[in-house]
Amino acid sequence: VARGEACARAADEGRLLLGAGASALDAVQRAVEVLEDEPLLNAGTGGALTEDGTLELDAAIMEGAQLRAGAVCALPPFRHPITIARAVLEEGRHVLYAGEGAAGFARAAGFAPARPDEMITQAARAHLANVVARRVPPRDRGTVGAVARDGQGRLAAATSTGGITGQRPGRVGDSPILGAGTYADDAWGAISCTGHGEGFMRMTLAARVLAELQAGRAPDTAAMQALLALEQRLHMRGGIIVAAPDGTFGWARTAPHMPCAWAIDDRAVGLP
Ligand code: GLY
Repeated sequence: VARGEACARAADEGRLLLGAGASALDAVQRAVEVLEDEPLLNAGTGGALTEDGTLELDAAIMEGAQLRAGAVCALPPFRHPITIARAVLEEGRHVLYAGEGAAGFARAAGFAPARPDEMITQAARAHLANVVARRVPPRDRGTVGAVARDGQGRLAAATSTGGITGQRPGRVGDSPILGAGTYADDAWGAISCTGHGEGFMRMTLAARVLAELQAGRAPDTAAMQALLALEQRLHMRGGIIVAAPDGTFGWARTAPHMPCAWAIDDRAVGLP
């Protein structure tokens, strides 16, 4: 329930920004910042820990008008990785920074590193201990994402994650990889994915959703077709949210849990 409420809060903040004339890019950034602050979700504060007990964060943001994008991966603790990804997009020199290079970019852009104990939660430590002891599988719920279309018809997508509990340091998932976990093109759609990143990268899932949209499928059908391909080929599950150029949107999940929320004009509705 709390995760669903966080999604509804994020949708509401995005809605307010869009209502005030902000861009889809601003809306997805703000929505993901809200989700990164929710310790129950696997992004920003409360994100999954590596086998060394460290927090390494991945995030990407993309806009569909000029296909500008920014991303960071294996970023050490900073409160809002998505905001740093947005700064990467705005600077425009490169698309993706990793590890210490990403941290150096962030510091130079004026972002202050967080103390690890400000962002690493007891629950994340306990989950890591259970995974290391093989008492539970490293099943992390809660990579976060947002997609939006603004009043000018511009699309944007943003995704943020702590990765997989117990992952080897330096492991990077699909979220910051364009065409795997995140993509936006005003002509076809904005896409954000959650699930086991290895599968999403191996099958370029976001690009597959795009191809389904190009074939004329509705957003929810496009998302489900891509997820069914993932399940058939690699026996993996996940969830995808999609916004389309005509103002329709959709989502699909083959994973058992994926709270999501949507807002159109002045309505914001959370879903379990
Ligand atoms: N989908 C997030 C990850 O695998 O890192």
